[in-house]
Amino acid sequence: MHIKTDISLKPYNTFGIDVNAKHFVSVTSATELKTVLKLKEYPNKLILGGGSNMLLTKDVNALVIHINLKGIAIVSQDNSSVLVKAEAGENWHEFVLWCLENDFGGLENMSLIPGNVGTSPIQNIGAYGVELKDHFVSCEVLNLETLQIETFSNAECHFGYRNSIFKQHAKGQYIIVNVLFKLTKHNHLLQTNYGAIQSQLEVMNISKPTIKSISDAVIAIRESKLPNPKEIGNSGSFFKNPIISKNHFKQLQSNFPKVPSYPVSEQEVKVPAGWLIEQAGFKGKTFGNYGVHKKQALVLVNYGGAQGEDILSLSKLIQKTIYRIFDISIEAEVNIL
Ligand code: EPU
Repeated sequence: MHIKTDISLKPYNTFGIDVNAKHFVSVTSATELKTVLKLKEYPNKLILGGGSNMLLTKDVNALVIHINLKGIAIVSQDNSSVLVKAEAGENWHEFVLWCLENDFGGLENMSLIPGNVGTSPIQNIGAYGVELKDHFVSCEVLNLETLQIETFSNAECHFGYRNSIFKQHAKGQYIIVNVLFKLTKHNHLLQTNYGAIQSQLEVMNISKPTIKSISDAVIAIRESKLPNPKEIGNSGSFFKNPIISKNHFKQLQSNFPKVPSYPVSEQEVKVPAGWLIEQAGFKGKTFGNYGVHKKQALVLVNYGGAQGEDILSLSKLIQKTIYRIFDISIEAEVNIL
């Protein structure tokens, strides 16, 4: 464990923003993590996971603690299911691939989501009809006040759409050190209802899908729409899809008859923010070295060398414009630092 000084965070955030960390350390165990947290000479600390859901807008005058805990283990199993524990620093997609190699089902629709296992519960990652909470059993967390390990069950995490207790009143109080998942060993429950998956499976000529072919379909869809952060800096969906009342939606529909929606509850529907942003004329717009992705309007991109502040200003302009045109507030999904 080695504390470095004046380190560029560019390799540590998928947006590829080049800001400096005053101090930086990578920890590989919960014990190392506790040791670092006790260091009094660094009063300000920032926890960094996969860096896939953040926009850095300024230099970080703190000790950045990179959570680099690794390991995947089968904890128990019976005839039909298996409990698998993955450490926080495991790359999410590599973990999904490990599950597929072992023919463990559940996470295949969430293939290729950027980020690490340890940050996946914070925003309850989800894609193509499946959310993390559907397969999450519990997570072990380090309480930053007591430095003791505690366990949060699925119910205790208060999962919602791109939301959990770790984004709400437990924000900043815990570090997730590992996550326990319950996966199927056979008779996998395949989720192919999401339209894009069905059409991709048809394109791939697959009539009897397996968890592997669903993963392949999801990878193909994502690669066709979403920029690869290794090539173009981005943080996936920059905004959440807004949830509005059915009354509000009816008004909206009278002005914009083609507006799509997904049911949420008796009273509410979700409107794809990508559609709103596209209608507002931002899709594919570039402003020098940053802009809105040409194939998916929910994704803001850094073509190389953009400042976090520039991308933040663009996001504010988009929010203001959407509010003016549609009377809908769209909320950032990424954390702005
Ligand atoms: N749409 C447009 N223009 C666009 C983008 C989307 O009109 O540029 C409309 C279309 O009507 C389309 C609909 O939005 O049918 C839905 O688009 P898509 O299937 O791409 O999904 P999304 O709602 O834009 C959400 C997640 C994604 C996830 C996909 C698939 C959020 C904020 N985003 O996007 O998650 O991969 O569904 O499940 O919920 C992420 O969180 O980083 C992410 C990529």
